[in-house]
Amino acid sequence: MNITDSNFDPTTNSHTSTSPNSAQFHSSSTILAVASSLSLFSSTTLHKKKPSQKSISTSYFSLDSSDAEDLTFLDQFRFIDGRQYHNEKNAHYYLPNDKQESDRLRIQHYVVHEIWKGNYSSPIKQRLIDGNTNVLDIGCGPGTWILDMGTTYPSSTFIGIDFSPVFPNSSFTPPNSIFLRHNILERLPFPDSSFDFVFQRFLAMSFDEVGWNDLFTEIVRVMKQDGWLEMMNFGCELKNPGPCTKRLADAVIEFHESKDIKVPTSIDLRKCFEQTRQITDISIEEKHLPLGKWAGQVGQLAKTNFNSEILGLKPFLLPFMNVTSEEFQLLLDNSDAEVNDYQTSLSTYRVFGRKVNDEQSKQMWVQYHHSL
Ligand SMILES: C[S@@+](CC[C@H](N)C(=O)[O-])C[C@H]1O[C@@H](n2cnc3c(N)ncnc32)[C@H](O)[C@@H]1O
Repeated sequence: MNITDSNFDPTTNSHTSTSPNSAQFHSSSTILAVASSLSLFSSTTLHKKKPSQKSISTSYFSLDSSDAEDLTFLDQFRFIDGRQYHNEKNAHYYLPNDKQESDRLRIQHYVVHEIWKGNYSSPIKQRLIDGNTNVLDIGCGPGTWILDMGTTYPSSTFIGIDFSPVFPNSSFTPPNSIFLRHNILERLPFPDSSFDFVFQRFLAMSFDEVGWNDLFTEIVRVMKQDGWLEMMNFGCELKNPGPCTKRLADAVIEFHESKDIKVPTSIDLRKCFEQTRQITDISIEEKHLPLGKWAGQVGQLAKTNFNSEILGLKPFLLPFMNVTSEEFQLLLDNSDAEVNDYQTSLSTYRVFGRKVNDEQSKQMWVQYHHSL
């Protein structure tokens, strides 16, 4: 398994281009101009120029005396039990956004890449190779998908957005890739029909029902006709879980549901795609991610990742489950043994579909009104 990826330097968290022809890349100024013209809202921060270290993460910088005069940037984070979380008032997202979580997400990227043997399922490869294809990654986290895709397809343009500034600064990004800091619940900061491919991965535990509806409206708005939308998540149900693993996994879902967060299954997402009445050719693909050393290195990494995610939610899960820290740890330890006895796995799914063109759009509305 290529966990270290030939393009990825874990010591600097940077990717190097494999392109034999770097002239194929868009120049930094071109992509900046494109991104600036796409940007509609002043609240959005564009991270192509090197941002101050302060704006990346408090895990990575130290203060000097001039910084001490203005500590307002500290308001952007909350700290609980030594972990750092976002502090967006209207967002329902409970995982941390510190270096530990970014490391988890980077490893998770390579684990799911190994299981899926690729970064996406939509039939968009040729357009990405041909170039001038605009790609948006919603909730990009540390940006590993963007960096991987940006180096693989040097003639296309990649934009990642996230409200946590955990993505790399421009010194470490290919010139065709850019990151924006933005809360996607405040609309998407792009004009209509901007993107050929919109990708969103592992944001299943991020939105209430209204949030999901608003997000779909926005996504469809920013997609070009014949553009593709793809969403990837973990399934809610484990296959062959032992009792401790099931208790932990159920608690994660039930905690989010108790906060009115709608954790969608692949079928739920398919319905959301259909309800836009602007997305067709919808497909679902599913693969299982084995958890534990019974499945070799991938399984071991996947179980470590599963535990790290649960530990990131621990401050919220302890009171919700009404267990002590020691009892919680015992559940995790038992789960580590259990997954091998039961050969547990976790489903991952991708839902993807194409935005219709004007003629198809009219036909879909006519069909819908006839069905009423
Ligand atoms: C589990 S991580 C997945 C990151 C990335 N997509 C990946 O596959 O590695 C979810 C990401 O969504 C971001 N996120 C959640 N709600 C958001 C919102 N309302 N606006 C912007 N980003 C959001 C979080 O900050 C986090 O980085």
